[in-house]
Amino acid sequence: MATKSKTVFFCTHCGNEYSKWMGKCPSCGEWNTLVEKEVVTGKRQVAVSVPGAGRKPMPLKDVATTAEDRVSLGSAEVDRLLGGGIVKGSLVLMGGEPGIGKSTLSLQLPLLRPELKTLYVTGEESVKQVKMRADRLGGDASNCLIYSETDMSEIVKEAEETAPDLLIVDSVQTMYCPQVESTAGSVSQIKEVAATLLRFAKASGVPVILIGHITKEGTIAGPKILEHIVDVVLQFEGENRGAYRVLRSIKNRFGSTSELAVFEMTGAGLREVENPSEMLIPMHQEGLSGAAISAMLDGNRPLMFEVQALVASAVYGTAQRSATGFDVRRLNMLLAVLERRAGFKLGQKDVFLNMAGGLRITDPACDLAVVCSVLSSNFDFSIPADVCFAGEIGLSGEIRPVSQAARRAVEAARLGFKKIYVSSYTHFDKKPEGIEVVKVADIPALVRAVFK
Ligand code: TYD
Ligand code: MG
Repeated sequence: MATKSKTVFFCTHCGNEYSKWMGKCPSCGEWNTLVEKEVVTGKRQVAVSVPGAGRKPMPLKDVATTAEDRVSLGSAEVDRLLGGGIVKGSLVLMGGEPGIGKSTLSLQLPLLRPELKTLYVTGEESVKQVKMRADRLGGDASNCLIYSETDMSEIVKEAEETAPDLLIVDSVQTMYCPQVESTAGSVSQIKEVAATLLRFAKASGVPVILIGHITKEGTIAGPKILEHIVDVVLQFEGENRGAYRVLRSIKNRFGSTSELAVFEMTGAGLREVENPSEMLIPMHQEGLSGAAISAMLDGNRPLMFEVQALVASAVYGTAQRSATGFDVRRLNMLLAVLERRAGFKLGQKDVFLNMAGGLRITDPACDLAVVCSVLSSNFDFSIPADVCFAGEIGLSGEIRPVSQAARRAVEAARLGFKKIYVSSYTHFDKKPEGIEVVKVADIPALVRAVFK
C-alpha cells in the first residue's frame, strides 16, 4: 500500500484529533492546546502477525472461556494491584512524574523474580546505567536481558525472537516507529508505539509493561492519550522528595480499580509497605490540634490516614484556601456547610488542608475527618489520638452513611482505635468488636460529641 501523509490537529490535553485548528478543544474545553501534526497513512503499522486474523463473527455463547492466564511478578503488592498478577498478552501502562521510581520498580520486578525471562528495553539509559542500578537493587539478574533500542520495528523483531515471559519498555516517549514521520514523543508516535506493543502483546501472549512520563500538570501528550488503548493503567503518585510512593490502579480490564499500593524508596530500591495505615498515621503527639484520622476505603482495603488542617486569620483581604491531596472545591463546599448549617464563620480565615503521605483522596467518607480537623485547628482543641471518623457530609449538614462501614470499624479496632464516628443511618449487621461506635446525625451533633 502506498504511503500518504496528511496533517491533523491533536489536543495535547485530551489527545483528541481534529481536521482543522480551533482555539478551544471542543472535547475537553482547554484553550490553545491544539497542535498540528503530520501523520502518515497507508502502510504504517509495524508488522506483527495476528493469529486468527480474518475470522468471522460468532455467537457469543459459543466462545470458549478460560480463566485469564496470569503471571506473578516480583512484588506481591503489584500483583494485588493487577488483580493477581499480570495477565498474559496484556499491555500495562505505568505512568508517573520523572524521578518517581518507574524505572526502579520495573527493573526490580524481574530481578526479584528471576524465573521469568524478561526483555527490558531501555530508550532512556545506557545498558551500563541499567546495570549499575541493578547492582544497587540486588536480586538475581541472570534471566534479564537488557536491550538499548528505540526503533519499534527492531524491538518487535527482537521480542518475537527472544520470546520472553515479560517485556518492559522504558519509556513510550523515547520510542519511535520508523513508518510515522514525526519525532519520538509526539502524539502520533506515542499512539503508534502503544498500538504496536498492543498488537505484539495480543499476538504473542507476552505481557508488556510500558512506562510513560507525566508532568506535574498531567498535560503532556502521553499517558492520557493512551488510557483507552492499554488494558491497565497504573499510576505513581506521591511527593518526589518524600520517601513514600503510592502506586494506584486507575484502569484495569482484568481487576478492580481504585486499589493502591504503598512503597518506600530506600537506598536499595522500592520497599513494599505492607501496612500503610501505620505509615499514614504519624506518631501522634497528644495535644496537637488540627489533626483527625479518617477510616478510608482504598478499593477493597480499609486504610487509616491522618488529615491535617491549619486555620489562621487571613492576613490579606481574601482568605486563602489550599488543599494538598484533596479537592479544593470540596473543601470550599464543606466550609460553606460549616458556616450555613452550624454557624462557624470561617470566611475570614485562611484554611490549609493536607493529606498524610502525599495521598490523593477521593473517598467521600473523608468529609468527616476534614471537617473535624478544620474545627480542631480553629478551636485549638486536640482530638484524642484514638478517635477516627468515617462519614460523608451533605449540603444540608447531614452526615451520610458510607460504604462498608463495618470493615472500616474493624480495621480501626485492629489498629488500636477506641472510637469511630459514623452516620446515624449506618447499619451494621453485627456490632463491631473492640471499638465504640458513635452515631451522629448532623454537624451540630458531631460538634457536640467531639468538641465537648
Ligand atoms: P527512577 O526509577 O529513575 O525514576 P523514573 O524512572 O520514574 O524517572 O527513580 C529515580 C529516583 O529514585 C532517583 O531520584 C534516585 C532514587 N533511587 C533511590 O533512592 N534508591 C534506589 O535504589 C534507586 C535505584 C533510585
Ligand atoms: Mg526512568
